[in-house]
Amino acid sequence: MAEVLGFGGYVPEKVMSNEDWARLVDTSDEWITQRTGIKRRRFAADHEATADLAEAACREALEDAGLEPEDVDELVVATDTPEVYTPDTAAFLQHRMGMREIPAYDLGGSGCAGFVQALDVARARIAYRPRRVLVVGVELISRLISWEDRSTCVLFGDGAGAVLLGPEGGRARILEVVTGTDGSKADILGLLTGGTRRPFTLEAARRGDHRHLTMDGGEVFREAVRRMSSAVEELLGSIGRSIGDVALVIPHQANARIIDVVGRKLGTGRVYVNLTEYGNTGSASVPLALWEAQATGRIRPGDLVVLTAFGAGFHWGAAALPF
Ligand code: ACO
Repeated sequence: MAEVLGFGGYVPEKVMSNEDWARLVDTSDEWITQRTGIKRRRFAADHEATADLAEAACREALEDAGLEPEDVDELVVATDTPEVYTPDTAAFLQHRMGMREIPAYDLGGSGCAGFVQALDVARARIAYRPRRVLVVGVELISRLISWEDRSTCVLFGDGAGAVLLGPEGGRARILEVVTGTDGSKADILGLLTGGTRRPFTLEAARRGDHRHLTMDGGEVFREAVRRMSSAVEELLGSIGRSIGDVALVIPHQANARIIDVVGRKLGTGRVYVNLTEYGNTGSASVPLALWEAQATGRIRPGDLVVLTAFGAGFHWGAAALPF
C-alpha cells in the first residue's frame, strides 16, 4: 500500500488579477468572477521554466517528509507544459535536484487529470516493489496560451504540487484510485498543433497555432461535471464507503460552477476551492489544493479525503486518501 510521506506546493510570486487581464483583452473582473469564480492567478517570471516550479514543490515535499533528494527511488512528472519538447521534464528535474540515477519519466498530455493518473502509476510501482516515488503535477500554462484569446487566457495559472509516496510511515494512504479515458473527445480540448499529425510550419506559427488552445467550453463543462462525479461514485463504491464518510472532496480547480454542480450531484458541501487565488493550474491543481488543504488544517487525522480530476483526452480519475 502506498502512503504519503510528504506534501509540497509552489506558486510563482507574480500575481495576475482579473483587472490586469481587463487591461489586455476585452474582458472584465465581473465576467470572469461570475463565469469562473477566478479572481487572480500566479504567473511564472521570465527566468522560470517548468522544472523550476516543479523543483520548488518537490523540495517542499521532501522537507515535509524529512528526507533528501538522494532518498527518492523514482520520479514521475505530470505536465502538459514541459520544459522542452524532448527530453522530458523529469530528466531536467532529476539532475537539477541531485537525485540518484533513478527511473524518472513524464506523464504528459493527460491535461488536468495527469496528477491523478500519476498517483495510480506510482502506487502500482510501490506495490510491485517497495520504493519512494516523488510525484509532481506542474504547469506553466501562461507561456503556452494565447494572450489574445479572451475565452481561454483568463482561465489559467502557473504552479506545482507534489507528494512523496512510500510503502509505509506516511500521514495518509492511497487506498484506491480509479481512472478512465474517452478518446472520442480528443479533439474537443487541447493544443492540437505541433506533433506529427499537424507539424509546425512557419505559416502555422504566424497564425499563432502554437498557442491556440482548442476548447468547446460548454462540452468541457458538461463532461467535467459528469466524469468527476461518476469517478467519485465509482471510487466510493469500490471501497464500500458513501459520500457521508468523506470529510473533504478536492476536485480539479477549473471553474467554481463546475465544482458547485459536482458537489450538488454528489450530495456534499465539503468541497475544497482555491481557484479564486490560482485559477486553473492544470496537472498542478489537485496536488496544490491537497498541499494547501492539509497545511492549513482543513484535513485532520482520521479524515477520508477524495481527489478527483478531469482533463483533455478526455481523461478523468479519482483517488481515496484516508488520513
Ligand atoms: N470576457 C468577456 N466575455 C467573454 C470572455 C471573457 N474572458 N470569454 C468569452 N466571452 C464571451 C463569449 O464570446 C460569448 O459572447 P457571445 O455571447 O457574444 O458570443 C459570451 O461570453 C458567453 O460565452 P460562453 O462560452 O457561452 O460562456 P460560458 O458561460 O459557457 O462560460 C467558460 C465560458 C467559462 C469557458 C465555461 O464554458 C467553462 O468554464 N467551461 C469549462 C471549460 C474549462 O474550464 N476549461 C479549462 C480547461 S479544461 C479543464 O480544466 C477541465
